[in-house]
Amino acid sequence: MQGNVRPETMERITTPELAQAFIDEQIAELRSQIGDKKVLLALSGGVDSSVVAALLIKAIGKQLVCVHVNHGLLRKGEPEQVIEVFRNQMDANLIYVDAVDRFLDKLAGVAEPEKKRKIIGKEFIDVFAEEAEKLEGIEFLGQGTIYPDILESQDGVKAHHNVGGLPEDLQFELVEPVKLLFKDEVRVVGKALGLPDNMVFRQPFPGPGLGVRCLGAITRDRLEAVRESDAILREEFANNGLEGKVWQYFTAIPDFKSVGVTDGKRTEGWPVILRAINTKDAMTATVEDVPFALLQHITQRITAEVPNVNRVLFDLTPKPCATIEWE
Ligand code: XMP
Repeated sequence: MQGNVRPETMERITTPELAQAFIDEQIAELRSQIGDKKVLLALSGGVDSSVVAALLIKAIGKQLVCVHVNHGLLRKGEPEQVIEVFRNQMDANLIYVDAVDRFLDKLAGVAEPEKKRKIIGKEFIDVFAEEAEKLEGIEFLGQGTIYPDILESQDGVKAHHNVGGLPEDLQFELVEPVKLLFKDEVRVVGKALGLPDNMVFRQPFPGPGLGVRCLGAITRDRLEAVRESDAILREEFANNGLEGKVWQYFTAIPDFKSVGVTDGKRTEGWPVILRAINTKDAMTATVEDVPFALLQHITQRITAEVPNVNRVLFDLTPKPCATIEWE
């Protein structure tokens, strides 16, 4: 098996042909590593886990068991897309776990960001472990580890953990077919595997998802407003050539209302904060210069289409002194 060091002779995967050669080589390696055993994979629908899933489906078909946990904090359309792409199009063995109520019940009334993160991380592990226990004959755990994860954990920059955080005490052998690839290479491979562009070129999305964008204690109605406003922002960025150009863009909603007026009547609604930033490594970030007319259009749409929202703000703050997320 490949070690954890990328050989100097390894060519950078930049073309469909190089991606196909990598795919063929991996399929052969995966088949010889796994034989007739089963592999379990937490499939979030992010780039890395999706590429690992697609590779494993090609290599071992139904011996791969994918588990997609919907914790209620995903963006609009994401769980549906995972089911459509992997179950309907690729015929994968996919277990879809609707854990929305379970997560939101655990998070009810919790306002402190790090507590929210801990609850989401722990609950994810619990749900995944429960699903794993129901299955028999699993010997391998698939993981979307990529080379920067390995470099960063060696440098001590951050402890390596996969998004979502997987159970460490599950005694499985790891299957990590993209662990020597950089992100841009994973995307080229994903495209060659036939994954849709909006999955392969997707912007980074934090493990705790919309949970850290529904600021303070999460409520279902405000969470829906975050999801809907985020979907409008993404749609408008895609329609105006900003998708793939801006590194990360999203909405956040604080846990207070402001006063507004509609049809001559006083209203109280939430303010929606828009954030659009560029960065290389997420350590520092600058604000995208979004055209004012587009901001006005997005404001008009969000206030018209998202219930209980009466104000839209654009966050002009770079990192530092702000962080990228609000929590
Ligand atoms: P900050 O807010 O620290 O964000 O400037 C830097 C990058 O990290 C992402 N982020 C997270 N990703 N779990 C994750 O997997 C988290 O808890 C988390 N918090 C922030 C953030 O979206 C940005 O890309």
